[in-house]
Amino acid sequence: MSYRVVVSQNIHPDAVGVLRSAGLEVVELGASAPAPRHVLERALVNADALVCLLTDRVDAGILSVASTLRVVANVAAGHDNIDVAAAKRAGVAVTNTPDVLTAATADLTMALLLAVARRVPEGDAHVRAGLYTEWTLEPPQTGLDVSGAAIGIVGLGRIGQAVARRAARGFDMPVVYAARRPAPAGLEREFGARRLPVDELLETSDFVTLHVPLTPQTRHLIDAAALARMKPTAVLVNTSRGALVDEAALVRALRDGVIAGAGLDVYEDEPRVHPGLLEQHRQVVLLPHIGSATRRTRRAMAMFAATSVVDVLVGRSTAHVVNPLFSAPASRPGPRGGGTGEGVRQAALPGLDRHGKRHGQR
Ligand code: GLV
Repeated sequence: MSYRVVVSQNIHPDAVGVLRSAGLEVVELGASAPAPRHVLERALVNADALVCLLTDRVDAGILSVASTLRVVANVAAGHDNIDVAAAKRAGVAVTNTPDVLTAATADLTMALLLAVARRVPEGDAHVRAGLYTEWTLEPPQTGLDVSGAAIGIVGLGRIGQAVARRAARGFDMPVVYAARRPAPAGLEREFGARRLPVDELLETSDFVTLHVPLTPQTRHLIDAAALARMKPTAVLVNTSRGALVDEAALVRALRDGVIAGAGLDVYEDEPRVHPGLLEQHRQVVLLPHIGSATRRTRRAMAMFAATSVVDVLVGRSTAHVVNPLFSAPASRPGPRGGGTGEGVRQAALPGLDRHGKRHGQR
């Protein structure tokens, strides 16, 4: 019997190739948008694995329909689109794709910061409108200094660290950070970074950039009160998740000059963008959630997710399981076998032994 993997939306064909060459039956829903709920539910009946994107909602209801599911592989680092707790209760492993997107997302964070500070889109629009008719010492796009300005990084995980490295080494920016735990001393030395409580970080930074996951605790971390703590000359950058910021409060803060600008790649209710943000042109740069969108990175994310599916189904430990310590409930004895090796029955995939090697391979 072969394992069935549902791929919810279009992913890189090489990743589909990884699934197929592992002998899996691949059901591609074949779209560039999330499938209607009933379509996904129907596809998941008898499925062993789901490869999904951050726009797919995998909630407790979907998981209860997908009673044979073993693994949900999210082609994203963030996994707030998945009810991870419900998956854990159901004995379904959830995997994500950090690491491979760290550099691309940190690069885009710096791109947004620079674009806002130096008013790059405004300059571009000015030239295209034929308004660049003479050079002046103080053009309308005169912006903020980046080199030497203080950057406050909220969340010093993989991407936060990569941003810190770019800011400190590339732009001589003094780095402060807010995190639950202090960074190892070596890292603090490398960036010359100081850990501060969030409020103090907000009060002292020229640029504030968010790199924490979205959880019930971090939702609206940046609300009206937090914005009021920031300097009127400061810029907020968000390449993490939109709901970290109370968007209505941000619109008011930008309108009222509470802060100077914002660079956003993510929104509270994506793909909807708060109309108040669309009205603001001065030092507000808006991107369509493209933090990891380089060709190499997006391919690597899909490959990673496909490999995670194969790993889990073959019973091999895999690199990034978000909910590792689950045990399989009695109601999921695993008619097709498979699992992550922790409480879920293991079995070999067709064409692979239980260590994931192709038959005959050493
Ligand atoms: C993108 O936002 C991701 O979480 O991978």
